[in-house]
Amino acid sequence: MDKFLIRGGKALRGTVKVSGAKNSALPAMAAALLTAEPVKLHNVPKVRDLITMSKLLAFIGARVSVTELPAGDYLIEARALNDAEAPYDLVKTMRASILTLGPLMARAGVARVSLPGGCAIGARPVDLHLSALEKMGAEIVTSHGYIEAKVHGNGSRGRRLKGAHIVFEKITVTGTENILMAAALAEGETILENAAREPEVTDLAEMLRKMGAQISGDGSSTLRIRGVEKLHGTEHSVIPDRIEAGTFLLAGAITGGDLTIANCVPEHLGAVVAKMEQTGVPMEIVDKTTIRVRRAKKLAASDMTTEEYPGFATDMQAQYMALATQAEGTSAITETICENRYLHASEMMRMGAHISVEGRRAVVRGPAALSGTTVQTSDLRASAGLVLAGLVASGETIIDRVYHIDRGYEGIVEKLRGVGANIERIHGPGPETKQSALTAAR
Ligand code: EPZ
Repeated sequence: MDKFLIRGGKALRGTVKVSGAKNSALPAMAAALLTAEPVKLHNVPKVRDLITMSKLLAFIGARVSVTELPAGDYLIEARALNDAEAPYDLVKTMRASILTLGPLMARAGVARVSLPGGCAIGARPVDLHLSALEKMGAEIVTSHGYIEAKVHGNGSRGRRLKGAHIVFEKITVTGTENILMAAALAEGETILENAAREPEVTDLAEMLRKMGAQISGDGSSTLRIRGVEKLHGTEHSVIPDRIEAGTFLLAGAITGGDLTIANCVPEHLGAVVAKMEQTGVPMEIVDKTTIRVRRAKKLAASDMTTEEYPGFATDMQAQYMALATQAEGTSAITETICENRYLHASEMMRMGAHISVEGRRAVVRGPAALSGTTVQTSDLRASAGLVLAGLVASGETIIDRVYHIDRGYEGIVEKLRGVGANIERIHGPGPETKQSALTAAR
């Protein structure tokens, strides 16, 4: 297993360029299953989860072509779906595989998708995805760890979902994306209330419109989708990754450097920028694609509560906790989205942070002088939080099991080194390289 070795204490300076959004590229890839025509995707981040998704699409029968390895551009052709199934072996490595359920039901009227099961940050059920599809006429049973879904034949086009009026009990990002894709080919209109407003949802809606879908209301809590008979191919460039951009913003702030984050969308980071200004960090929106962060005269504690977009993202919570360990005073953090998302706290405490966790609330007292040690990562964003802690800790920090971070951050070591961090990847025996996975997908 690869590890990172960080020697902390260096202020980050210079410009770092943000890659495409993992959580936008994943549904965009799944959406290619909605048409038999070619779909070209650009600005796809070169991270493990996209390799897993391309393997899954290939398993389902799509042809996935790339021009370089690892790939930033994909050509996906789902001429025929020879197997409307997402097997456990792939789904267990990536919950987002559930995003194939909506397109398979829309295109083939049948799907067999492994239940994702829980993960380190929570139970994360998919009941809302299933109940919404049932409202659209799907018959769903779950057995032997699989979702078995089908629509009975009706009318001229055989198995076709029906438009429905759906109100999500809870805001769900991939749930919204699944129903958006399912409804795009359904009969009639679907109204989806209490929908997710994340920029990744809007990006998917824009791609689907380019494929011929009739969608309105994206960015608001109510989506309207008028189903069409057929969707065609398209070319789409996914949006920049706001979580990667936010991670670098906090890396600049926590090291007291002067960092420019390029190729991002500042408005997607409204809540993060506002919170950092409250802690005393000078932020500058340089232009439509650039933010600059500089050293705070005094880093002040500030309470934070995670929320659905446009609130403060749960995927930024661990990174914010790292910053709070260096702020003067007490910061109360409340995690409202995931029930078990403080696994990084105990590792930060091992580095000398003063944190107490009670249920969904964590109280951080700062500033604390962190000292380097070996820490374990539990999930993607917890790893990012520990990297930030390592950047300010004295001595050496070894971050173990970084395959978590490779799932969602493209070239994070190279990018951090490019702005002055003393970090290196220590290669070790372990999970398959990107190379072999993509070759399999061809
Ligand atoms: C998406 O996950 C993101 N993943 C997650 O990012 C992110 O943490 C999460 O949204 C919240 O912002 C992708 O986009 C691929 P949800 P998703 O459904 O869609 C509950 C990362 O680090 N819920 O919005 O799976 C659920 O348990 C990842 O990149 C139900 O109860 O999250 C959670 O408490 C980690 N039933 C809440 O809703 C359901 O059917 C929000 O989950 C669905 C969700």
